[in-house]
Amino acid sequence: PEDLVSHRFDEIRPYERAARMVQNNVRHAGAVLLGPVPQDAGLAKALGLSPSQIIDAVEASGLRGCGGAGFPTARKWRAAAATGAERRVVIGNADEGEPGTFKDRVLLTERPHLVFEGMTIAARAIGASEGILYLRGEYVYLRDLIEETLAERREKGLLGKRIMGVEGFDFDIRLQMGAGAYICGEEGALISSCEGLPGEPKTRPPYPVNRGYLGFPTVVNNVETFSHVARILDRGAGWFYAMGTEGSHGTKLFSVSGDCINPGIYELPYGATVQELLAMAGGDDAEAVLVGGPSGTMIARDTFDRRLTFDDLATGGAVVIFNGKRNILEIVEYYMSFFVHESCGYCTPCRVGNVFLQKAIAKFRAGLANPGDIDYLKDLSATIIETSRCGLGMTSPHPILTTLENFPLVYSAMVKPTRDRIRDTFDIQSA
Ligand code: NAI
Ligand code: SF4
Repeated sequence: PEDLVSHRFDEIRPYERAARMVQNNVRHAGAVLLGPVPQDAGLAKALGLSPSQIIDAVEASGLRGCGGAGFPTARKWRAAAATGAERRVVIGNADEGEPGTFKDRVLLTERPHLVFEGMTIAARAIGASEGILYLRGEYVYLRDLIEETLAERREKGLLGKRIMGVEGFDFDIRLQMGAGAYICGEEGALISSCEGLPGEPKTRPPYPVNRGYLGFPTVVNNVETFSHVARILDRGAGWFYAMGTEGSHGTKLFSVSGDCINPGIYELPYGATVQELLAMAGGDDAEAVLVGGPSGTMIARDTFDRRLTFDDLATGGAVVIFNGKRNILEIVEYYMSFFVHESCGYCTPCRVGNVFLQKAIAKFRAGLANPGDIDYLKDLSATIIETSRCGLGMTSPHPILTTLENFPLVYSAMVKPTRDRIRDTFDIQSA
């Protein structure tokens, strides 16, 4: 709903109302995650296993990170567990800021216990005593709900000392609010922000699993990843592994928005096609679909049979649908202005290069591009991707590169000689 997506950052909205609005906007396709889930059954089963057996179960499920990059979850956990450090940390990343993604907001509204259950299982697996939920600043209206959920878990012995009566298993979670910067969803910037420093990415390696929050080994996972962990431990690794495709097991939450009848959250097994998702969402007149938000891929109608998997269209979950009335170059320019605004400014290629890209797109939109400008877009994009320090700069040219590849006529039609030929052919000036 309009007022949910446009609420002001500093406006504290009662979460009940927000939850109701989200509820109205949720479609339970597949209805696994958002259907009934036995609370903390996964945690109870995990506590019957050794930490390394928990990691084995996560590994056997094939679970990969749900924030977008798809790094194998078990490999990350094993690395943190192997450090043997005195203090280890688990962080739930709920700083979703990719335009078009809102699944974490719905997940935390509908199933906050599931997320904290998964974080607690992770803590047991890697030997952490400290957890942080990093919540996007714009989701401030969820703060009360989350604090209440954490308090309830402490009361029930699901957080704090001797969790579920297990001697020596102490773990608690605190809430850290973001302050409205997209870059703080990048794990290094997120950790800096938790440390009270400016939200700037850190150079990797070392990865957070070796040197993270305050220098201690830290597992940072998207909150959706933790929710899958809880269900995997409850229902078994085989249950999750059996869904999806060879390289992408299990299910994924997709945030579907744009020109469709039923926008909302859909949980689907990996391997579903874009066409199948469009059919469910009522996006029959789609001409373009942006999978993975602006850092993902814009595809055209003739390739809607492509699959939502890490091997084909990898995504953190954002799926934005555009019908034939939309202007592709306007969309691209908008996304470039987003990256220009959100760049932290640390490295020149990202800070300056994205401004140049945005200006070049404006030139195309105005019909003032020269034939060489297409190569300029490609070369500058390649430089930004190659030389940027973090994921923002490494993906910011994607709206341009993927539309150049999949909608080439949109660009060539706006190159000056072409534009002049079109004008002469149709005698536009005298019309
Ligand atoms: P990445 O591939 O560099 O890292 C992914 C994860 O694996 C990180 O947690 C990293 O620490 C870990 N990792 C990678 N190599 C490792 C190693 N050798 N040892 C231990 N851990 C290792 O991806 P990155 O830069 O963290 O994230 C970029 C992704 O985020 C993009 O694919 C993009 O789709 C997605 N994204 C998601 C957004 C959202 O709102 N959910 C917003 C913007 C981007
Ligand atoms: Fe900052 Fe961009 Fe460099 Fe990332 S790539 S560190 S956002 S300037």
